[in-house]
Amino acid sequence: MSELIEILTKDGSYSLRSVSFKENFHSLLGALEETRLKFTDPSNLQRFKGESLNVLDICFGLGYNSASLLNELIRQKSYLSLYALEIDKKPLEYSLRNKSFLKLWSPKVEKIFESLYQKDYFEDQFFKCSLLWGDAREKINIIPSSIKFDLIYLDGFSPQKCPQLWTIEFLSKVTEKLNSQGYLITYSSSAAVRKTLRNLGLEIFTIKPSFNNRTFWSQGTVAISTSDKNTLKPNFNFEKLSVMEEEHLLTRASIPYRDQDLNSSKDDIINRRLDEQLFSNLVSTNKWRKRWGMTKSSVKS
Ligand SMILES: C[S@@+](CC[C@H](N)C(=O)[O-])C[C@H]1O[C@@H](n2cnc3c(N)ncnc32)[C@H](O)[C@@H]1O
Repeated sequence: MSELIEILTKDGSYSLRSVSFKENFHSLLGALEETRLKFTDPSNLQRFKGESLNVLDICFGLGYNSASLLNELIRQKSYLSLYALEIDKKPLEYSLRNKSFLKLWSPKVEKIFESLYQKDYFEDQFFKCSLLWGDAREKINIIPSSIKFDLIYLDGFSPQKCPQLWTIEFLSKVTEKLNSQGYLITYSSSAAVRKTLRNLGLEIFTIKPSFNNRTFWSQGTVAISTSDKNTLKPNFNFEKLSVMEEEHLLTRASIPYRDQDLNSSKDDIINRRLDEQLFSNLVSTNKWRKRWGMTKSSVKS
């Protein structure tokens, strides 16, 4: 179904571009760097040293987020139950052929990925991993409702390119699976996504830009269940939203993506939202951008 083009990113790690989605899998600055800064570091994995955790990786792709997670957990001897959702087998097939990708991780990661590719499953004393192939909107229902996740990675293509995975209805299913101290982590700082997560009862934080990447005001979002606010430990990777980011949530950009029966096409979801924006009384996003001296490219979705 997919046509994929290989891309070498600036940190020397490989990624792909999807011709059908017209989008790269990772930032051109670095696939490996993106995984570390936007997913692994904000996960605070030291919390689980020698302990067990449940993780859901939505949009497994080449597997950078899961590989980086597994790599850290191998080192600190944690026990993991991992579920991953992905519609296309080709990116994993590509990873397994790419020596430079495999060399980034402990040899055990290759063994796990090979098993996920062949059998959709891997299990040993430490790790139990399942890859559910198909549309994440459907496959998420297969995960037993008794399983609550400590970490959920949401790494779909951007909301404008793949709105199906950023709607109120899908995000509601996702957040139901988060445990009371769990983190939902995404690279997206879209106002629509943030507002939806907040409306679903989560407390939202911004992932701080790294030192060498000051072009963007945020590297993404961490959403945490508010029921456990008091036990929230300070984290050097994310912090409360700035005034500018809060104001972003008051603009038309915060109008959510909707997919009532979880089977709408991309175009239907986008058009529905455009109609809603047209009749909205919210402040225009351009006005907000001008007020904060921003160019369109500094506003990442
Ligand atoms: C930005 S890439 C993910 C990058 C990935 N985390 C990695 O480390 O390579 C988005 C992925 O979403 C997958 N995808 C697109 N639509 C999907 C859907 N409805 N359900 C599940 N996966 C989907 C694509 O096949 C692609 O692999």
